[in-house]
Amino acid sequence: GGAKLWGGRFAGDTDPIMKKFNASIPFDQRMWDADIRGSKAYAKALEKAQLVSTKEMEQILTGMDQIFEEWSTGVFLIKPEDEDIHTANERRLKELIRAPAGKLHTGRSRNDQVVTDMRLWLRDAIKTLTDNSLQLISTMVERAAIDVLFPGYTHMQRAQPIRWSHWILSHAVALSRDVERLLEIKKRVNVLPLGSGAIAGTPFDIDRELLRKELGFDGISLNSMDATGQRDFIVEFLFWASLCLIHLSKMAEDLMLYSTKEFSFISLSDAYSTGSSLMPQKKNADSLELIRSKAGRVFGKCSGFMMTLKGLPSTYNKDLQEDKEAMFDCFDTVQAVLQVTTGVMSTLKINQSVMEAALSPDMLATDLAYYLVRKGVPFREAHGVSGKAVFAAESQHISLNQLTVEDLTAVSPLFGGDVSSVWDYRSSVEQYRAPGGTAKSSVAAQVEHLRIWLTKV
Ligand code: ARG
Repeated sequence: GGAKLWGGRFAGDTDPIMKKFNASIPFDQRMWDADIRGSKAYAKALEKAQLVSTKEMEQILTGMDQIFEEWSTGVFLIKPEDEDIHTANERRLKELIRAPAGKLHTGRSRNDQVVTDMRLWLRDAIKTLTDNSLQLISTMVERAAIDVLFPGYTHMQRAQPIRWSHWILSHAVALSRDVERLLEIKKRVNVLPLGSGAIAGTPFDIDRELLRKELGFDGISLNSMDATGQRDFIVEFLFWASLCLIHLSKMAEDLMLYSTKEFSFISLSDAYSTGSSLMPQKKNADSLELIRSKAGRVFGKCSGFMMTLKGLPSTYNKDLQEDKEAMFDCFDTVQAVLQVTTGVMSTLKINQSVMEAALSPDMLATDLAYYLVRKGVPFREAHGVSGKAVFAAESQHISLNQLTVEDLTAVSPLFGGDVSSVWDYRSSVEQYRAPGGTAKSSVAAQVEHLRIWLTKV
């Protein structure tokens, strides 16, 4: 076992299946850049602690730069004994600069190295996902520009007329909270673990403040056992990914319904639809179905990794190697969903006339009650009266606005000729002028708020 970083105390070789089972290089090579950044910073701290000479430090830095070059041009050669990205880079450094390479790991453990790499990688990933989310939100704010009314649903039953823009902004607002949550998580991700060693800390004069500055972390981990053994920063990210995709699955579900022939409120662009191999007429909303599906996949990673963590003893255990596939998969999945959703939202066609034609007078029954409230009737009573009017219309097989003033005065003497003003969808929505409502001015204020938020976040 001489070629291995830890081979000294071993006489026998690793079983080939075990070797494959143990290796994380197939997936953790994605962190090659973070691993090099971490090692370069560590070489500087070693030099300051006089554990390597200035010349040796420079050899390490030059060697690492060459390894960077190899990875970025795709020529880095992974060898069979490379267990993970940390051993691969160190092995290559040794090939390039020989003796000084053996000093790089002084006082460092893969236990503090791996979480340093992950925190660096995740910090960049969070930046990318923040940008992808903001792109989607601004697309949605743009698509809120069109002023059209359509039916709002509760319990999937026709409820009240609302603005399309009100619907789209309701999802944009949830996504803006997801962005805020992600930035909140970033604070806890951006903490330096390097200098924690395997468990006990470092016995050398490793300047952790220098490491922090070199690597751009906001703070330094307080406890070496916590720093090497906890993965709550990963769990928070997986949880975040799950919640964000739950939000997008809800929006996708609405859009799927709206794009059916029966609704036809929107039409999905060809770019985000697929056909059927059997039925020539089909145009399926596969983009929306896949967006909807990914919440399940990502939450599976989150709950799976949490199960891995449950009951683990303190500090590093190999179980923790499971963190990376969950993190990478959730990143890739959320990024793809955000990008596809942005495409869907920017290209979908809004069928204005179908939307407005779908409104029906029964959706104004609440307004009929408010008409009476404005004449001094207590709401509970007004609700009952309006309900009786709905019943009367249904019994006569006519719509609510076809009831005559006589029909209405039969249920309440307070109804007058001015009741006709209730049957206007545009004036109905204009009543909802308080902040957060569906009136034109209120929706415009929401757009304004999000526009400002987008420039400040
Ligand atoms: N590949 C390992 C991981 O991903 C690196 C840390 C290994 N540490 C150890 N003591 N075996 O977790």
